[in-house]
Amino acid sequence: MTLSLAQLRRCSVAVDLGAARTRVYLKGTGRIVDEPSVAAVNMRTGGLIAVGSHAEQMAGRTPGHIVVVRPISGGAVVDIAMAQRMLRQFVGDKVRRAWRRKPLLRAAVCTPFDAHPLAQTAAVETLTGLGARRVELVDTLVAAAVGCGLPVEQPEATMIVICGATTTQVAVLSLGAIVAAETVPLGGDTIERVVMQYLRNEHELVLAGPDVRRPLHVELGGPGAGPPSVVHGRDAATGSHRSVRIDPEGLRAVMYSPMTGVIDAIGIVLRRCPPDLVADLADRGIMLAGGSAMLPGLDTLLRQATGMPVHVADEPDVCAVEGLGAMLEGRVLPLHLEALAV
Ligand SMILES: Nc1ncnc2c1ncn2[C@@H]1O[C@H](COP(=O)(O)OP(=O)(O)OP(=O)(O)O)[C@@H](O)[C@H]1O
Ligand SMILES: [Mg+2]
Repeated sequence: MTLSLAQLRRCSVAVDLGAARTRVYLKGTGRIVDEPSVAAVNMRTGGLIAVGSHAEQMAGRTPGHIVVVRPISGGAVVDIAMAQRMLRQFVGDKVRRAWRRKPLLRAAVCTPFDAHPLAQTAAVETLTGLGARRVELVDTLVAAAVGCGLPVEQPEATMIVICGATTTQVAVLSLGAIVAAETVPLGGDTIERVVMQYLRNEHELVLAGPDVRRPLHVELGGPGAGPPSVVHGRDAATGSHRSVRIDPEGLRAVMYSPMTGVIDAIGIVLRRCPPDLVADLADRGIMLAGGSAMLPGLDTLLRQATGMPVHVADEPDVCAVEGLGAMLEGRVLPLHLEALAV
């Protein structure tokens, strides 16, 4: 079903529920939440101890009765009740009171391309539990393309690659609609995992428990960090603290190895596109969005692999929620905004 922009303009809040971060945009105000999608819970009392960055800092440092959970994974809300509690804390009392006064609160949520109906229902239930009377679902690809400033409403092809934490979505859009798209279960988390495995196999260094997530690849490949040199961790055999000097080239090769899946997905999407649109893409190239688009060198890697120009969006991590926000504010006028109405 096609969702009109008029319906979206009636929404007062836009939400992007990501595996790594939750973002909320309030109409007329802007982005009010951009926090890690993490909650710390006391298992004895069931009470919520912390959410967002506070809860993330607790990971791996809590006593047994406190667990750090992630209610969103793989582009879907996997624990609706916890996601609602987390969001309630994020938006705070002031906004919640304002929402309560609005008898017809409408919310817009972005969902990944081809999201399973159960994942769509979970996203809707999460928001209705927070007081939304109606929830509009918008494809993340369309929202992010708008957020990147791509001319989605024009009759010319634009390619977007959204590199998230657990999923990467590749699509060609034209006239506000998705012409061809592909989703791969790869992202920043996958890169982080292969880096951990590399350190374990090559250096017998253990960095953290399985439930502890540390954006290690961001630290190691980050701007200004120069060639990564010393990493601190635990010796796999003795358990004692140890530091190792690592080979930056070896590490970089490992970090980019999962990206072959993304390169394959780009090839699949291009093959599914009509030739005229592919000709447009040769000039326009690929727009990278999503938090993992900030991985240094990713644009060069994709440029070399595809032979196409590659651009990184200005604020790649917030493109989707900002695009959705722009639709709510009526700042964009896609002709045929294709989205999923509930
Ligand atoms: N500066 C950076 N350099 C490299 N990677 C980064 C940087 N900042 C964030 N990331 C990575 O980006 C990912 C988060 O991106 P994003 O916020 O788009 O994810 P998400 O929307 O929560 O996840 P998903 O869309 O998969 O549900 C994390 O894996 C994080 O490690
Ligand atoms: Mg995302």
